[in-house]
Order: sequence, then structure tokens, then C-alpha cells
Amino acid sequence: MIDKIKEHIAEVEAFNAETADQIEAFRIKYLGKKGILNGFFAEFKSVPNEQKKDFGQAVNALKQAAEAKVTSLKEVLESKQEEKGVYGDLSRPAEPIEIGARHPISIVKNQIIEIFSNVGFNVSEGPEIEDDWHNFTALNLPEYHPARDMQDTFFIQTDPDILLRTHTSSVQVRYMEENKPPIRTISPGRVFRNEAISARSHCIFHQVEGLYIDKDVSFADLKQTLLYFTKQLFGKSKIRLRPSYFPFTEPSAEVDIYWGLETETDYRITKGTGWLEIMGCGMVDPNVLRNCNIDPTEYSGFAFGMGIERIAMLLYQIGDIRMFYENDVRFLEQFKSSI
Ligand code: DAH
Repeated sequence: MIDKIKEHIAEVEAFNAETADQIEAFRIKYLGKKGILNGFFAEFKSVPNEQKKDFGQAVNALKQAAEAKVTSLKEVLESKQEEKGVYGDLSRPAEPIEIGARHPISIVKNQIIEIFSNVGFNVSEGPEIEDDWHNFTALNLPEYHPARDMQDTFFIQTDPDILLRTHTSSVQVRYMEENKPPIRTISPGRVFRNEAISARSHCIFHQVEGLYIDKDVSFADLKQTLLYFTKQLFGKSKIRLRPSYFPFTEPSAEVDIYWGLETETDYRITKGTGWLEIMGCGMVDPNVLRNCNIDPTEYSGFAFGMGIERIAMLLYQIGDIRMFYENDVRFLEQFKSSI
């Protein structure tokens, strides 16, 4: 009998409970009216006299153990509930923390900045609301110049002199007005054109402008710089410069990279030629230098401009420019692993 009581004491000591119901069930089992302890007390009279003392002590020990257990379990439970009051339920699984992603336009912009800053270009910025001088006139596009039609402009209604810049070339002018050569700067930023929105074009997009002015800068320097850039960004090492026209450069060129014709997509995006146009460039027109108080007999330089969306679409194989502005998380979260 005493062994049985000792087993119970061990069971009581090992017992643990998490909820008030479990503690109550334990209390009833041992200390309730029809509980184990009262069972032993009822048997007391039938215990032989010489064992009564040991038996009594053992039952008392069991009673004390059970009561102490109930008290301590209740205390633990109460203290947990107090914590809950201040901090919530500390035993709940943690909320998963969602880590955001950079926008693909920012990712590509930062890559371009990094590549050019490695060869000494700094970053400059200008205003999105521009005046006619910086967006057009200083860039060799005087009033009534037909090339103004190449860029459908948003004007600020009350003042025909104020507009939303149509390209980041306006920052070239501002930079040259404020800094003396040597100049090596790239200017990323948002530009605006009054164009119909489609899969290929949008009325708001981003460009990066590049400008290099120093003594004896040549077209060969331009080509070498662009080759370095395309190798770094696309991992492609074949480019070609096609003669073109921009009012602010002379001579002017469009830059194509050789993308290859390995896959069906390559065929589609290069229209079967393997070549892709990625930017415009040229030697800064002497008129532009003069407009910015730089002496064209002393200095020469090159400039280039590219659309960030176009480059991001090529790098990430994005088929529709509108995706960049819809902020659909299913699109954005695909860039989580990119820097
Ligand atoms: N501003 C031109 C555009 O928006 C791009 C461009 C072409 C910039 C040639 C240049 C350049 O600096 O030299 O289409």
C-alpha cells in the first residue's frame, strides 16, 4: 500500500499542465471528494495498527505534494497570462517578416551608375520641370527647329517656356553651365513625353544621360567607353555605331549591341538580325559647348543617352513597359533576389 502511495507521489511530482482545465482535472483526481486521497483516508481504519503511523505519514506526504503542485501550476499559469497582457501570446509562432524588393528600374539604374562610376563618372541630377533653354534651345534646338517634333512635349499650360523635360540631356546643359571641364558625369532621371501608352512606350519613363568633356576627347574614346559599358552590363562584347542624327551631337550615332540569334526569343526581339539598338550618342556639338560657356576650340567631348526601361526589359525579358508602373506585387516580388 505504501509503495502505491509512493508511486502516486512520484506521479504528482512529475505532473505538468498548461491549461486551467488540466490543473482542475488533476486537483479533482487527487484532492476531490471522490479523489485518490479520500480513497486512502477511507482505507485508514482497515490498516493494521502497527502500520498506521507510516501509512498516515505517506498519505499526508501525498496530500501535501498534490496541494503544492496545484498551487505552483496555478502560479505559473497566472504569470504567463500576465505576460500575455503586455506582450501578447509569447508562445504563438512569429509573424513572417516580408522583405521588400527594389524596383527593377532602380536595380538597373544602380547597375549603370556603378559601371560608370568605376571609370570616374559622377552622378548629377536636374529638375523634372524644365525651361525651354535647358531642354531645347541650349541643345541646339532653337524655336521652330523641326527636330522638336521628335519629342512630343508636355507644356505647363500657363507658360510655354516651362515644360516637363523630354530627355535627361537637359542635365548636360545644367552641368556644363555650373562646372568646368574635365567633366565626367551621368544623369539618371525621369522624363515625360506626350505619347500614347502601349506595350512599347509610355508617357513617363527613365533615361540615363552621359557626358564627357575634356581636351582631345575623340570618337574612339566614345566607342571604347560604350564597349566597356555593354560588356559590363550585358556581358556582350560586340557593338556597332550606326550614323544617325541628334541636334546636340555631331557626328551622331545609334548604338547597337550584338545580342545573338541562339533562341527563338533572340530572333523575335532582334527581328531576325541579331542586333539591338540600345542608345543614342555622339560628339557634343560645338554650338552646345558654346551655349554652356565652354570653348569648343579648347575642349571636345561625347554624350550618350539611353532609356532605362528598354534596358531593363532586355535584361529581364519583360514584354510590356506598363508592368513597371502598375506596382503589381506578383511582378515586383520577382526582383527580391536582385541587389
Ligand atoms: N536625348 C536623346 C533622346 O532622348 C538621347 C540622346 C542621344 C542623348 C544622343 C545624347 C546623345 O546625349 O548624344 O532620345
